[in-house]
Amino acid sequence: MHLFLVGAGHVGLVTAVGLARLGHRLTVADVDAARIRGLVSGVSPVFEPGLEEAIGAYVASGELTFTTDVRPPADVRFSIVTVSTPTGPDGPLSTANVEAAMAAILDTVGEDHTIVIRSTLPIDGPDRLLAAVAGRANRPAIVTNPEFMAEGSAMANFDRPDRIVAGWLEARDREAAPAVLSLYEGLSAPTLLADARSVALIKLASNVFLAAKVAYANELARICDASGANIDTVADGIGLDARIGRAFLNAGPGFGGSCFPEQAVGLAQVSAALGLPTPLIDSVSRSNDAHQRSIVEALGGLLGGRDADPGSRLTALRGRRVALLGLAFKANTDDVRRSPALALARHLREAGASVVATDPRAIAKARLADPALETVASVGEAADAADAILVATEWREFAELDWTGLAARMRGDLVYDTRNVVNAREVRAAGLRMATLGRPQPTRAERLDRPDRPLDLAQSRTGPAQT
Ligand code: UDX
Repeated sequence: MHLFLVGAGHVGLVTAVGLARLGHRLTVADVDAARIRGLVSGVSPVFEPGLEEAIGAYVASGELTFTTDVRPPADVRFSIVTVSTPTGPDGPLSTANVEAAMAAILDTVGEDHTIVIRSTLPIDGPDRLLAAVAGRANRPAIVTNPEFMAEGSAMANFDRPDRIVAGWLEARDREAAPAVLSLYEGLSAPTLLADARSVALIKLASNVFLAAKVAYANELARICDASGANIDTVADGIGLDARIGRAFLNAGPGFGGSCFPEQAVGLAQVSAALGLPTPLIDSVSRSNDAHQRSIVEALGGLLGGRDADPGSRLTALRGRRVALLGLAFKANTDDVRRSPALALARHLREAGASVVATDPRAIAKARLADPALETVASVGEAADAADAILVATEWREFAELDWTGLAARMRGDLVYDTRNVVNAREVRAAGLRMATLGRPQPTRAERLDRPDRPLDLAQSRTGPAQT
């Protein structure tokens, strides 16, 4: 089927490629002419493994066509809206772009058309869209159809979704919802049809639940640091309970990206606006912020800040040079939106440290997001004269570093890995001090077996595990 899709961003392009793989032909529009020019010549504006190659192949075979004309072609019956819903004057998840995209479609099509809203909507998004079409007698059907794709694995998430959800705006849209599901024929997944208000909450509540799971794992990791337990073992044990599951229990520098941080705050704001006490939801982003501050305090502790007061440990960071490995909010993306790495860099500089950062893919976007950040092209240059190396993104490249070479370039001897990605054995073999987040190495039990290395309870109570 010939489909129209407006919004050639991350979600839009992965959706377009996925639908093309299912046998559809797509005309993809965006108001950004430079972006469209790039796409026509096979250049993707976002990094996603396999995406650029797939776009090139489908452009060549004619399944994908790009245009700046945001009105659907005459033979199209479904227009899919995948424009962004960033924080705007109307709060998190502004629907301004969605409404603008809809307006162009509404002016072009009639009742025999369906507008599929795949952009993430706020809870009152369906009501805003209803207000936007109020008074249009012969309007097309409008159905919401949120995506649940994560950056870095978005193509696989499209092909193997956990569920496909469609929501009708009001009773007259109900009939069109099953037809929207049929666009995904060929995928095997449970489907759910519901009113658009419930569907909007399904999307937001899924993300905030996962964000809460990550925040919970990070709080547990700090308990592990203080008690000598190992967060990976604990997460494995918890995750074996089928009611809980192991996913999203990996401790790290906190959640980031374009979805979790904004939506955790957004859901809390909505409940506040509704006058509802939701202390659990309210605490999710507070926990994440506190966790990132605690990582910086722990680094201060490792650099000699012996003060029992966490805030005072920061004084040990003054004048120190910290090599920050990783800027992307997670591996396999160049996205730095609300990246934990950038938050750590900010806290470190506020404490008086100088930060030299590097990343295999995200330097350009990081420099735009934080023009004051010093970046270098390689890990070696970042390590030059560094007092400590702080690992913030789980890039594979960081698992294969030459620690002997890096040790020779450093001024200090500390490596603090918040992602469990570096080869701890090689770090130690290079004569460096290895600190982890919730992952004592050797474990407390191993230390107790070795009387030459008594367990330093004071250390384990106030900072991360280190050897
Ligand atoms: C998320 C949702 O997963 C996706 O379904 C939705 O459509 C968009 O938001 P994304 O933001 O791409 O996707 O990233 P995700 O892989 O979910 O990770 C979010 C953050 O949590 C990252 O900062 C990641 O590093 C962190 N995280 C995730 C952890 O720290 N530990 C984990 O175990 C999992």
